[in-house]
Amino acid sequence: MERRSWFIDELKHAGAEHLDTRYVHGYDRKARFDPTADLAILRDLGLGPASTLVDLGAGTGELSLAAAEVCQRVVAVDVSAAMLDVVRAKALQRHATRLEVVCAGFLSYEHAGEQADFVYTRNALHHLPDFWKAIALRRVARLLRPGGSLILRDLIFSFEPEESERVVEAWIKAAPIRPESGWTRSELETHLRDEHSTFTWLIEPMLERAGFEIQSATSDDSKVFAAYTCVRR
Ligand SMILES: C[S@@+](CC[C@H](N)C(=O)[O-])C[C@H]1O[C@@H](n2cnc3c(N)ncnc32)[C@H](O)[C@@H]1O
Repeated sequence: MERRSWFIDELKHAGAEHLDTRYVHGYDRKARFDPTADLAILRDLGLGPASTLVDLGAGTGELSLAAAEVCQRVVAVDVSAAMLDVVRAKALQRHATRLEVVCAGFLSYEHAGEQADFVYTRNALHHLPDFWKAIALRRVARLLRPGGSLILRDLIFSFEPEESERVVEAWIKAAPIRPESGWTRSELETHLRDEHSTFTWLIEPMLERAGFEIQSATSDDSKVFAAYTCVRR
């Protein structure tokens, strides 16, 4: 898609904190993300020594680094230079030679080389409003080979609009007090107010229209997080 003057600025929508070096340096401690379970899902789907995986909105690269131990090529993509500096430092430390780092967004990443076998994206797509999500998902489908898999995890709401107050209040009530222990009430409020989480019943037709078959869809008990495994038709 040619860049027009009405094109969204992905950096402005990326969450100011993700561009802030101090926040980024505390990110792993706050997020406490262990990629083991997602890596196992990817391996069950066929991730192996010949595979290429693209991690969109890779953040500090925990999944990318774990995947780079298993497969031929991993591309960690993020709009945040600060996040990617951390990925590069970890890659050096862990001798992750099969990991490439690209500073780009869902809407600007241009995949070079053979189409990817896997795309993984976790807690990042909600930075785009729905119009742009639909375009981003179509771009994701194009960078995958037919039969390739997309794993999408995000804050995607599996409740009805009239349940919003009850579900959201329960969610933010359970938030930790200290920012280093996770996302605080005020951070979750900012997420709801300023970011673009959508409903499962909106993202699912978007995925299908983008060229995916949804193979599995799960939502957690809080009805705030959802995960999809999709195959590119
Ligand atoms: C909450 S973090 C998640 C990072 C990582 N995937 C994880 O699960 O820990 C969201 C990430 O998405 C990135 N991001 C935001 N908007 C983006 C966009 N339009 N394209 C690519 N990455 C984006 C941010 O810079 C940030 O690193």
